[in-house]
Amino acid sequence: MLDKMNPWKNKNNSSILREQKNAIKEQMIPEHVAIIMDGNGRWAKKRALPRIAGHHEGMKVVRKITKLANEVGVKTLTLYAFSTENWKRPKMEVDYLMKLPEEFLGTFLPELVEENVRVEMIGYKESLPSATLRAIEKAMRETKDNNGLILNFALNYGSRAEILDAVKHVLDDYKNGIINEKELNEESLSTYLMTNGLSDPDLLIRTSGEIRLSNFMLWQLAYTELYFTDVLWPDFDENHFLEAIGTYQSRQRRFGGV
Ligand code: IPE
Ligand code: IPE
Ligand code: MG
Repeated sequence: MLDKMNPWKNKNNSSILREQKNAIKEQMIPEHVAIIMDGNGRWAKKRALPRIAGHHEGMKVVRKITKLANEVGVKTLTLYAFSTENWKRPKMEVDYLMKLPEEFLGTFLPELVEENVRVEMIGYKESLPSATLRAIEKAMRETKDNNGLILNFALNYGSRAEILDAVKHVLDDYKNGIINEKELNEESLSTYLMTNGLSDPDLLIRTSGEIRLSNFMLWQLAYTELYFTDVLWPDFDENHFLEAIGTYQSRQRRFGGV
Protein backbone atom coordinates (compact mmCIF):
# COMPACT_ATOMS: atom_id res chain seq x y z
CA MET A 1 0.00 0.00 0.00
CA LEU A 2 1.27 3.48 -0.83
CA ASP A 3 2.32 5.52 2.15
CA LYS A 4 1.35 9.10 1.26
CA MET A 5 3.04 10.56 4.33
CA ASN A 6 6.35 8.98 3.55
CA PRO A 7 7.13 8.66 -0.17
CA TRP A 8 10.71 7.63 0.62
CA LYS A 9 9.40 4.55 2.37
CA ASN A 10 7.42 3.60 -0.76
CA LYS A 11 10.48 3.91 -2.91
CA ASN A 12 12.43 1.87 -0.45
CA ASN A 13 9.81 -0.86 -0.32
CA SER A 14 9.58 -1.21 -4.06
CA SER A 15 13.34 -1.26 -4.49
CA ILE A 16 13.63 -3.95 -1.81
CA LEU A 17 10.97 -5.93 -3.65
CA ARG A 18 12.86 -5.50 -6.91
CA GLU A 19 16.08 -6.72 -5.32
CA GLN A 20 14.30 -9.69 -3.82
CA LYS A 21 12.76 -10.51 -7.18
CA ASN A 22 16.16 -10.43 -8.85
CA ALA A 23 17.71 -12.64 -6.17
CA ILE A 24 14.91 -15.17 -6.60
CA LYS A 25 15.32 -15.18 -10.37
CA GLU A 26 18.98 -16.17 -10.08
CA GLN A 27 18.00 -19.57 -8.74
CA MET A 28 15.62 -22.26 -9.90
CA ILE A 29 12.07 -20.97 -10.14
CA PRO A 30 9.38 -23.57 -9.40
CA GLU A 31 7.68 -24.31 -12.69
CA HIS A 32 4.29 -24.99 -11.12
CA VAL A 33 3.10 -23.34 -7.91
CA ALA A 34 -0.21 -24.40 -6.36
CA ILE A 35 -1.89 -22.38 -3.63
CA ILE A 36 -4.62 -23.28 -1.15
CA MET A 37 -5.92 -19.76 -0.57
CA ASP A 38 -7.29 -20.10 2.94
CA GLY A 39 -8.28 -17.75 5.74
CA ASN A 40 -10.64 -15.28 4.08
CA GLY A 41 -13.36 -15.92 6.65
CA ARG A 42 -11.04 -15.42 9.62
CA TRP A 43 -9.61 -12.27 8.07
CA ALA A 44 -13.13 -10.83 7.90
CA LYS A 45 -14.07 -12.04 11.38
CA LYS A 46 -11.07 -10.26 12.89
CA ARG A 47 -12.46 -7.04 11.44
CA ALA A 48 -16.08 -7.77 12.42
CA LEU A 49 -16.94 -7.94 8.70
CA PRO A 50 -19.10 -10.54 6.94
CA ARG A 51 -17.14 -13.52 5.57
CA ILE A 52 -17.78 -12.42 2.00
CA ALA A 53 -15.75 -9.26 2.64
CA GLY A 54 -12.78 -11.58 3.17
CA HIS A 55 -13.46 -13.31 -0.14
CA HIS A 56 -13.61 -9.97 -1.90
CA GLU A 57 -10.30 -8.91 -0.39
CA GLY A 58 -8.80 -12.27 -1.33
CA MET A 59 -9.66 -11.64 -4.96
CA LYS A 60 -7.35 -8.64 -5.05
CA VAL A 61 -4.53 -10.83 -3.78
CA VAL A 62 -5.14 -13.24 -6.68
CA ARG A 63 -4.42 -10.41 -9.08
CA LYS A 64 -1.21 -9.36 -7.28
CA ILE A 65 0.20 -12.86 -6.98
CA THR A 66 -0.69 -13.76 -10.57
CA LYS A 67 1.20 -10.73 -11.82
CA LEU A 68 4.24 -11.50 -9.69
CA ALA A 69 4.28 -15.22 -10.53
CA ASN A 70 4.23 -14.33 -14.22
CA GLU A 71 7.00 -11.79 -13.74
CA VAL A 72 9.40 -14.16 -11.96
CA GLY A 73 8.86 -16.89 -14.54
CA VAL A 74 6.50 -19.37 -12.88
CA LYS A 75 4.89 -21.34 -15.72
CA THR A 76 1.74 -22.56 -13.99
CA LEU A 77 -0.12 -21.12 -11.01
CA THR A 78 -2.96 -23.29 -9.72
CA LEU A 79 -5.29 -21.58 -7.27
CA TYR A 80 -7.75 -23.55 -5.14
CA ALA A 81 -10.78 -21.31 -5.27
CA PHE A 82 -13.67 -23.65 -4.39
CA SER A 83 -13.68 -27.28 -3.34
CA THR A 84 -16.34 -29.91 -4.00
CA GLU A 85 -16.92 -29.76 -0.22
CA ASN A 86 -17.44 -25.99 -0.11
CA TRP A 87 -21.08 -26.43 -1.23
CA LYS A 88 -21.74 -27.24 2.45
CA ARG A 89 -21.39 -23.55 3.31
CA PRO A 90 -24.38 -21.21 3.80
CA LYS A 91 -26.13 -20.51 0.48
CA MET A 92 -25.42 -16.82 0.70
CA GLU A 93 -21.67 -17.45 0.92
CA VAL A 94 -21.71 -20.05 -1.86
CA ASP A 95 -23.65 -17.65 -4.10
CA TYR A 96 -21.08 -14.96 -3.47
CA LEU A 97 -18.14 -17.28 -4.13
CA MET A 98 -19.77 -18.31 -7.41
CA LYS A 99 -20.04 -14.65 -8.44
CA LEU A 100 -16.34 -13.98 -7.80
CA PRO A 101 -14.98 -15.45 -11.06
CA GLU A 102 -17.32 -13.16 -13.01
CA GLU A 103 -16.28 -10.20 -10.96
CA PHE A 104 -12.58 -11.03 -11.12
CA LEU A 105 -12.52 -11.75 -14.85
CA GLY A 106 -14.93 -8.89 -15.59
CA THR A 107 -12.37 -6.53 -14.11
CA PHE A 108 -9.03 -8.17 -14.85
CA LEU A 109 -9.45 -10.19 -18.06
CA PRO A 110 -8.10 -7.37 -20.27
CA GLU A 111 -5.07 -7.15 -17.99
CA LEU A 112 -4.53 -10.93 -18.17
CA VAL A 113 -4.76 -10.82 -21.97
CA GLU A 114 -2.29 -7.96 -22.01
CA GLU A 115 0.11 -9.85 -19.74
CA ASN A 116 0.01 -12.94 -21.96
CA VAL A 117 -1.61 -15.08 -19.21
CA ARG A 118 -3.61 -18.16 -20.23
CA VAL A 119 -6.63 -18.95 -18.07
CA GLU A 120 -7.46 -22.60 -17.41
CA MET A 121 -9.71 -24.44 -15.01
CA ILE A 122 -9.80 -27.80 -13.26
CA GLY A 123 -12.95 -28.95 -11.48
CA TYR A 124 -16.52 -29.99 -12.20
CA LYS A 125 -18.01 -27.56 -14.67
CA GLU A 126 -21.46 -29.20 -14.83
CA SER A 127 -22.62 -28.03 -11.41
CA LEU A 128 -21.37 -24.45 -11.69
CA PRO A 129 -23.99 -21.73 -12.19
CA SER A 130 -24.16 -20.95 -15.90
CA ALA A 131 -23.02 -17.33 -15.49
CA THR A 132 -19.92 -18.50 -13.58
CA LEU A 133 -19.08 -21.05 -16.25
CA ARG A 134 -19.68 -18.53 -19.04
CA ALA A 135 -17.21 -16.10 -17.48
CA ILE A 136 -14.54 -18.78 -17.11
CA GLU A 137 -15.07 -20.13 -20.62
CA LYS A 138 -14.91 -16.66 -22.12
CA ALA A 139 -11.60 -16.07 -20.33
CA MET A 140 -10.27 -19.44 -21.53
CA ARG A 141 -11.31 -18.65 -25.08
CA GLU A 142 -9.83 -15.17 -25.12
CA THR A 143 -6.50 -16.27 -23.64
CA LYS A 144 -6.08 -19.64 -25.35
CA ASP A 145 -3.25 -18.48 -27.61
CA ASN A 146 -1.29 -16.77 -24.84
CA ASN A 147 1.95 -18.48 -23.93
CA GLY A 148 2.86 -16.79 -20.65
CA LEU A 149 1.78 -17.97 -17.21
CA ILE A 150 -1.03 -20.55 -17.06
CA LEU A 151 -3.47 -19.31 -14.42
CA ASN A 152 -5.30 -22.48 -13.50
CA PHE A 153 -8.35 -22.10 -11.26
CA ALA A 154 -9.38 -25.13 -9.23
CA LEU A 155 -13.08 -24.43 -9.05
CA ASN A 156 -15.51 -27.01 -7.74
CA TYR A 157 -12.47 -29.28 -7.60
CA GLY A 158 -12.03 -32.37 -5.43
CA SER A 159 -9.14 -34.74 -5.75
CA ARG A 160 -10.82 -37.96 -4.66
CA ALA A 161 -13.67 -37.44 -7.12
CA GLU A 162 -11.10 -36.66 -9.81
CA ILE A 163 -9.21 -39.92 -9.15
CA LEU A 164 -12.43 -41.95 -8.98
CA ASP A 165 -13.58 -40.51 -12.31
CA ALA A 166 -10.20 -41.30 -13.84
CA VAL A 167 -10.56 -44.92 -12.73
CA LYS A 168 -14.08 -45.12 -14.21
CA HIS A 169 -12.86 -43.62 -17.47
CA VAL A 170 -9.99 -46.12 -17.62
CA LEU A 171 -12.50 -48.96 -17.11
CA ASP A 172 -14.59 -47.68 -20.02
CA ASP A 173 -11.55 -47.36 -22.27
CA TYR A 174 -10.43 -50.85 -21.23
CA LYS A 175 -13.83 -52.30 -22.12
CA ASN A 176 -13.75 -50.51 -25.47
CA GLY A 177 -10.24 -51.73 -26.27
CA ILE A 178 -8.74 -48.22 -26.15
CA ILE A 179 -6.25 -49.12 -23.41
CA ASN A 180 -4.87 -52.47 -22.25
CA GLU A 181 -3.39 -53.52 -18.94
CA LYS A 182 0.20 -53.10 -20.13
CA GLU A 183 -0.42 -49.54 -21.28
CA LEU A 184 -1.84 -48.50 -17.92
CA ASN A 185 0.92 -46.94 -15.83
CA GLU A 186 1.52 -43.81 -13.75
CA GLU A 187 2.07 -41.70 -16.83
CA SER A 188 -0.99 -42.87 -18.75
CA LEU A 189 -3.20 -42.75 -15.65
CA SER A 190 -2.13 -39.09 -15.20
CA THR A 191 -3.65 -38.27 -18.57
CA TYR A 192 -7.08 -39.24 -17.20
CA LEU A 193 -6.84 -36.58 -14.48
CA MET A 194 -8.12 -33.04 -14.89
CA THR A 195 -4.53 -31.82 -14.79
CA ASN A 196 -3.67 -33.66 -18.01
CA GLY A 197 -1.09 -31.57 -19.85
CA LEU A 198 0.09 -29.71 -16.73
CA SER A 199 3.25 -30.59 -14.84
CA ASP A 200 2.91 -31.66 -11.19
CA PRO A 201 3.23 -28.77 -8.72
CA ASP A 202 6.78 -28.12 -7.51
CA LEU A 203 5.64 -25.96 -4.63
CA LEU A 204 2.38 -25.97 -2.65
CA ILE A 205 1.56 -22.99 -0.47
CA ARG A 206 -1.26 -23.04 2.07
CA THR A 207 -2.12 -19.90 3.97
CA SER A 208 -3.93 -19.38 7.29
CA GLY A 209 -2.09 -21.89 9.46
CA GLU A 210 -4.04 -25.03 8.54
CA ILE A 211 -1.70 -27.96 7.94
CA ARG A 212 -3.78 -30.16 5.65
CA LEU A 213 -4.54 -30.70 1.98
CA SER A 214 -8.35 -30.56 2.10
CA ASN A 215 -8.77 -32.88 -0.89
CA PHE A 216 -6.43 -30.91 -3.14
CA MET A 217 -4.34 -32.59 -5.89
CA LEU A 218 -3.62 -35.75 -3.88
CA TRP A 219 -2.04 -37.58 -6.82
CA GLN A 220 -0.20 -34.58 -8.22
CA LEU A 221 1.38 -33.51 -4.92
CA ALA A 222 3.28 -36.78 -4.40
CA TYR A 223 6.72 -35.09 -4.52
CA THR A 224 5.76 -31.44 -4.13
CA GLU A 225 7.54 -29.22 -1.61
CA LEU A 226 4.98 -28.08 0.99
CA TYR A 227 4.97 -24.61 2.50
CA PHE A 228 2.56 -23.58 5.24
CA THR A 229 2.21 -20.06 6.55
CA ASP A 230 0.02 -18.51 9.25
CA VAL A 231 -0.65 -15.46 7.07
CA LEU A 232 -4.32 -15.23 6.09
CA TRP A 233 -4.91 -15.15 2.33
CA PRO A 234 -6.16 -11.52 2.17
CA ASP A 235 -2.94 -10.46 3.96
CA PHE A 236 -0.68 -12.53 1.70
CA ASP A 237 1.48 -10.18 -0.37
CA GLU A 238 4.39 -10.11 -2.79
CA ASN A 239 6.96 -10.45 -0.01
CA HIS A 240 5.23 -13.54 1.37
CA PHE A 241 5.18 -15.11 -2.07
CA LEU A 242 8.87 -14.40 -2.65
CA GLU A 243 9.63 -15.78 0.80
CA ALA A 244 7.86 -19.02 -0.09
CA ILE A 245 9.84 -19.29 -3.32
CA GLY A 246 13.06 -18.54 -1.42
CA THR A 247 12.28 -21.36 1.01
CA TYR A 248 11.58 -23.68 -1.91
CA GLN A 249 14.95 -22.77 -3.40
CA SER A 250 16.70 -23.71 -0.17
CA ARG A 251 15.16 -27.19 -0.09
CA GLN A 252 16.86 -30.25 -1.46
CA ARG A 253 14.54 -32.42 -3.54
CA ARG A 254 15.52 -36.05 -3.74
CA PHE A 255 12.54 -37.84 -5.31
CA GLY A 256 13.52 -40.95 -3.42
CA GLY A 257 17.16 -40.82 -4.50
CA VAL A 258 20.20 -39.92 -2.43
C1 IPE B 1 -10.72 -19.71 1.76
O1 IPE B 1 -11.10 -19.00 2.89
C2 IPE B 1 -11.66 -19.49 0.61
C3 IPE B 1 -12.51 -20.65 0.31
C4 IPE B 1 -12.48 -21.80 0.89
C5 IPE B 1 -13.45 -20.48 -0.76
P1 IPE B 1 -12.14 -19.58 3.93
O2 IPE B 1 -13.50 -19.08 3.57
O3 IPE B 1 -12.03 -21.04 4.07
O4 IPE B 1 -11.65 -18.86 5.26
P2 IPE B 1 -11.62 -19.48 6.72
O5 IPE B 1 -10.84 -20.74 6.63
O6 IPE B 1 -13.03 -19.70 7.13
O7 IPE B 1 -10.94 -18.43 7.51
C1 IPE C 1 -9.82 -25.47 1.18
O1 IPE C 1 -10.14 -24.63 2.23
C2 IPE C 1 -10.54 -25.07 -0.06
C3 IPE C 1 -10.15 -23.79 -0.64
C4 IPE C 1 -9.23 -22.99 -0.23
C5 IPE C 1 -10.89 -23.44 -1.81
P1 IPE C 1 -11.29 -24.99 3.27
O2 IPE C 1 -11.37 -23.83 4.19
O3 IPE C 1 -12.52 -25.39 2.56
O4 IPE C 1 -10.68 -26.27 3.99
P2 IPE C 1 -11.03 -26.92 5.39
O5 IPE C 1 -12.51 -27.09 5.47
O6 IPE C 1 -10.50 -25.99 6.45
O7 IPE C 1 -10.28 -28.22 5.39
MG1 MG D 1 -10.91 -22.23 5.26
